[in-house]
Amino acid sequence: MKLHHLIETQQFDRSSLKQLFDLATSLEGKRERSLEGKILASLFYEPSTRTRFSFESAMLRLGGDVLTMESVRDSSSDKKGETLEDAIKVINHYADAIVLRHSETGSAARAAAVSKVPIINGGDGNLGQHPTQALLDLYTVQRELGRQDDIHIAFVGNLKYYRSARSLSYLLSKYKNIRITFVSVPELQMGDDVKQHLRENNVRFQETDDMQSIIRDVDVLYQTRIAKEWITTGDYESLKGRYVITRPIADSMKKGAIIIHPLPRVDEIAIEVDDSPHAVYFKQVGYGLIVRMAILKTILNGK
Ligand code: CP
Repeated sequence: MKLHHLIETQQFDRSSLKQLFDLATSLEGKRERSLEGKILASLFYEPSTRTRFSFESAMLRLGGDVLTMESVRDSSSDKKGETLEDAIKVINHYADAIVLRHSETGSAARAAAVSKVPIINGGDGNLGQHPTQALLDLYTVQRELGRQDDIHIAFVGNLKYYRSARSLSYLLSKYKNIRITFVSVPELQMGDDVKQHLRENNVRFQETDDMQSIIRDVDVLYQTRIAKEWITTGDYESLKGRYVITRPIADSMKKGAIIIHPLPRVDEIAIEVDDSPHAVYFKQVGYGLIVRMAILKTILNGK
């Protein structure tokens, strides 16, 4: 598989996904020197724990090195007015790949347009994508259910401003007999661009505000956080707490069904759900590490 910039999940097809996931599985528990001499720059204009650390850990486990800058808005020359494009052109001289998180939708594509080294989109804007999160979400489904076809998945909560749910919806259109239920209040419904893509690809989907009506039927419950940073304060207060997965709700799911969540969690999954057999969201973090190892090894041609 050839992969240079990784900007959106529409770049993948079933064959490239299989190659990537097979590679991820082969890297489980491994440390190697295949990326020795390569440098990854992590450039995060927004907060992150998982995306930044997992890419950095992945790079180190493959023998590469990392240049990292947190709070880019405060600690970089962004503060002096440097454009994203100029920053990328400069970092091209220092690194072999750049993982970028930025608050503006479309920023990863803008960076890619001026970058000779690969840009990996670590999340762009409130209406953009988070493709590497969606890849690890799909990998989690494959590992836990043993399949990617014939799945009923419910996305719950904040669907409008949740870029990884958007990215995963695009990925699911590659598979057979997928049923999607979008569960949200009207203010946070999935974007029309994603729904149009699903229609064009004949993916069955429905929308409801009633989580209880589908909980017993789903194979995958994809819970989301009501993103305070994207929602105005008044709306946030009225929206948070609308869809909370409690232990009785988790216990009502069918045998083998899974609850996934990109994390961070605030209060949308009760702590007592964590030891439910359905809860795989912390295991999902571990899958994320090997998927990101596979992404780096593919992009940087690690041998
Ligand atoms: N899931 C995710 O993107 O987490 P971070 O914001 O901590 O990177």
